[in-house]
This record gives sequence, structure tokens and C-alpha cells, in this order.
Amino acid sequence: MALSIRHLLGLENVPKEDIQLILDTTPSFLEVLNRPIKKVPTLQGTTIVNLFFESSTRTRVSFELAERRLSADVVNFAASTSSVNKGETLLDTARNIEAMKVDMVVMRHSVPGAPHFLSRMCTSSFINAGDGAHEHPTQALLDMYSIRQKTGALEGLNVCIIGDIAHSRVARSNIFGLKTMGANVAVCGPPSLLPHEVESLGVRVFTNLDEALHFSDVINVLRIQLERKAGAAFPSLREYRETFGITWRRLEGLSNPPLVLHPGPLNREVEISSDVADGPASIILDQVTNGVAVRMAILYLLGTRKESDS
Ligand code: NCD
Repeated sequence: MALSIRHLLGLENVPKEDIQLILDTTPSFLEVLNRPIKKVPTLQGTTIVNLFFESSTRTRVSFELAERRLSADVVNFAASTSSVNKGETLLDTARNIEAMKVDMVVMRHSVPGAPHFLSRMCTSSFINAGDGAHEHPTQALLDMYSIRQKTGALEGLNVCIIGDIAHSRVARSNIFGLKTMGANVAVCGPPSLLPHEVESLGVRVFTNLDEALHFSDVINVLRIQLERKAGAAFPSLREYRETFGITWRRLEGLSNPPLVLHPGPLNREVEISSDVADGPASIILDQVTNGVAVRMAILYLLGTRKESDS
């Protein structure tokens, strides 16, 4: 089996068979992560550049671990220490890096569509590690894998994404991926943090948290993106916490408390309280572990794919 896609730029329009293949390939890499020597020779001789134009800790470290555990040669590029500071264009930066003969590029950029643009101009295989508020496909794949690991299937599951949907690439990629896999997807948040076209993505919309919690088998709680001025969308953080914050007091009354995910970083006691984040319904740290294995599966499937596969 091989992927039909050459790049992983987003989950919109990625066929179910490709998502299924990535999720089904992940357990064998999870097994590698549990060995005393956590390394396989799969991508020996492959060079991967991590091109990060926007700050990131977890995603960058997760990709780098995944790459090194597959024995790839890894080069890290951070915009703050590069010629981007000297006025070089994005395309020149990418072409210069490619001229050094790299095979794959993992890229994060604040402009939606930036990796899509470069993937058309360059010959390497591109993985989008987050482009503005557009897509973050590897996060959605690791979320879907983590849900499936606990529930056994995604088909027919009620999944609600809660919080700052408007600024969230994680929300968009989750909506596309989960819907492709047959889940019933909803979003919940203050109207000021829901994008205008959100119903047109085929999701249910809740503005009342208790109704959303009754619907949900799984909730994916999003960070309030204060750096993107999300704080201006509601009166105060205290009010947000009271209306939309996920606390154990809110979950304990439910006959079936939902499984709780959060992509991190957490704003503790804002969108999620510590008694939930560190409590029995939370799979937040499983997401982090699974993230490395899911990224290994993606790098393996894209890195060993032949042109004749499509
Ligand atoms: C997310 C991101 O960067 O989009 N985080 C992540 O990838 N770990 C979500 C967020 O920043 O809130």
C-alpha cells in the first residue's frame, strides 16, 4: 500500500484510504518507541529540513525525534537566525535549501498556503507543520490516532471541538479528517470565536457548552490564542472560563464523561482546568507520545514513496 499524495499539506481532500494507511502504519512505529533502542534505519540517507518560520516547541521537537528515530539526516532552520532577517524571499530561501539536495521539508509558517506555494515551486516532498490559521494536518492525524486508540473506531463517534475555532488550524484539519473518517463533528465556542463559514464545513454548531457536552463522546479543547488577539473576542478570561472552560465540576454530572484532548500548549485554568487536564478522562500526554509515532509513519510513507505509486 502507498499514499496517493506526494505532500501532506492539509487534510481537506485527502482520501480516506490515505488517512487510514497513516493511522494503520502508526502502531509499528509506536512499538519502536517502546524499545530500549528507539531507532530504525528506514530513512537512512534521506535528508530532511525543518523549516520553522513561526515559534514552536512541541511540534518541532516531535518532528525532529521522529526524523532521528528513522535515521534521517536532519537540518533545523529557524527564521530568527536565518537570511530571512536579511530580506530574502521565501522562495529564494526554499530554493537555496533545496539546491543543497534535501529530500523532504517540514514547514511551519504564519501565512496560510505558504507550504502549498513552495511545494509547487520545489521538487522536495513538503509536510505542513501549521500554516497560519489554515491547516495543521499532522496534529489532526495524531488526534485521530489517539481517539481511535481509546475508542476503537472513528466512524459514528460524536466529536466536539471546543474554544477558539476561528484562529485554529488544528480545528480545521480535525474537521476535514474526522468527517472523512465518518465521525459526527461539532464545534462549540462563543459566537465571536466561530468562523462565519463554519456550518458550511458540515459541522454542528453549539454556543452552549452543556449541550455540546451532552452530544460528545470526545472533546478536543483548544487554546485561546491570546497572541492572535483572541482575548478581544470576549469580555474577560474569567468570563470565558465560567462559560466555556472545561472543569471537572462540569463533566462529573454527565452519565458518560467524554474523552478529553488538547493539542497544547495549555492555558491552565482558562480553557481547561488542571483537574481535567491531569484527570482520568484526559489523553493529552498520549497525544504527545502518539505524535512522534504518527509523524514517523507519515515521514516513512512519504519518504519511501515512488513516483510510480500514484
Ligand atoms: C497548535 C498549533 O501550533 O497550532 N499547537 C501545536 O501544534 N502543538 C495549537 C496551539 O498553538 O494552540
